[in-house]
Amino acid sequence: MREIPLALTYDDVLLVPRRSSIASRRDVDPTTRLTRRLRLRIPIVSANMDTVTDARLAVALAHEGGIGIIHRFMTIEEEAAEVAHVKRPEDVVREVHTIGPERTISEASTQMARSGVSSLLVIDRDGALVGILTTRDLLFEENLERKVRERMTPRGELVTGPPGTSLEDARRILHEHRLEKLPLVDGEGRLRGLITSRDVLRQARLPRTVRDERGRLLVGAAIGAVGDYVERAVALVEAGADVLVVDIAHGHAEHAIRATREVKQRLPSVELVAGNVATAEGTRDLIEAGADAIKVGVGPGAACSTRVVAGVGVPQLTAVMECVEEADRQGVPVIADGGIRQAGDIAKALAAGAATVMIGSLLAGTEESPGMTVVRNGARYKVYRGSASSAVAIDRMRRERPEEQFDELAAGVVPEGVEFVVPHKGTLGEVVHQLVGGLRSGMSYLNARTLGELRANAGFLRITEAGWRESLPLPGD
Ligand code: XMP
Repeated sequence: MREIPLALTYDDVLLVPRRSSIASRRDVDPTTRLTRRLRLRIPIVSANMDTVTDARLAVALAHEGGIGIIHRFMTIEEEAAEVAHVKRPEDVVREVHTIGPERTISEASTQMARSGVSSLLVIDRDGALVGILTTRDLLFEENLERKVRERMTPRGELVTGPPGTSLEDARRILHEHRLEKLPLVDGEGRLRGLITSRDVLRQARLPRTVRDERGRLLVGAAIGAVGDYVERAVALVEAGADVLVVDIAHGHAEHAIRATREVKQRLPSVELVAGNVATAEGTRDLIEAGADAIKVGVGPGAACSTRVVAGVGVPQLTAVMECVEEADRQGVPVIADGGIRQAGDIAKALAAGAATVMIGSLLAGTEESPGMTVVRNGARYKVYRGSASSAVAIDRMRRERPEEQFDELAAGVVPEGVEFVVPHKGTLGEVVHQLVGGLRSGMSYLNARTLGELRANAGFLRITEAGWRESLPLPGD
């Protein structure tokens, strides 16, 4: 009989500790690259699943230094709008409170009290900025019928910036002039936005935020490999997506390779991730078709049933190692997608050569995820469902063929994914802090200041079932 090779996954191995000169987890640097050209500050990518990544989660993850990939289970317009939402200039206060110069002080103070703001920008009928009125200007004013224009600081005395002023520039200007507010005004004098000192301070609290060259948050978006995928790709890039992900369960299918090639030809400057594959051959074919990163994982995901339904898959550690070996030859990074069950798995995946990990279930329970919240016995949970689960398939068919009966639709589905609930876990920032903290700890055990050193210093040991049991914390009595 032909010998059958052994394949391993994260729980089959442990990393061997080594002499380390790293005294603190803060001394390690988990920056990495997602694709040939895109860099991240932490190696975490959120899964393009409809219970994991929409604009809200992508914004939160970009603030932490990772990247979200918007899922594709919606219309092209809806997906493009999600991307545009992440890319909008977040530095500018969106809801600017304004008042007309002919209004009274009494009206102004009522408006300020109602909206809880300490100043109003004064604009004329054409939207041109004519002044600013603050609570200080109203102090001890006895004539409440006086006009706003009589008490405001007029335009000529205001410091303003052009639309698109970066937070960095705003910080400098506010500091230089000892100001709290910087109105943004266009060439015609019209008010376009406002940056406050509070925005600048908030930004300083999120130092890991990843941005494009125009200062907008990084975001990716998924496309399929059949149907409208080229049209979708074009719309997503127009909306500002930094990276596209060809999302198909069997990335080594010829139509997936064709789709990768076609998208790269149509949009040569876009960073393109292709997958999912689990072999060196699959990796080679997708890189040859133009992929700038390879997504690896067939069946390891928490909501996947591919391996039991189709009998196909490769345990994830082996899959990552095989694909990395091939991708390394071409200088292309690998995304280890699925199967991250605990923080320690991230260190194992990166030690095996992946540049990033894609995570679904561990992020699905966060406050920011789009999954539905359910309450059971007083505890809060969120729904997590595989992209090939019957729930997602039926939702899609309903969108495409609304006239058909639910029962008929359900009968035709052969799911390769399941749906379940995960406990509510707090904010994405809290969850990511734990995951990256675990990675930093793993790096310090291996004397690795960078992810390159983690890989170079990694020594894996295969462990037994008893070794794995020993690894788990025992609940005390
Ligand atoms: P985790 O383990 O982080 O995995 O929850 C997320 C990844 O799982 C994959 N995925 C699926 N695989 N059937 C599958 O075989 C599915 O229905 C399914 N849904 C998601 C996907 O690669 C995701 O990033």
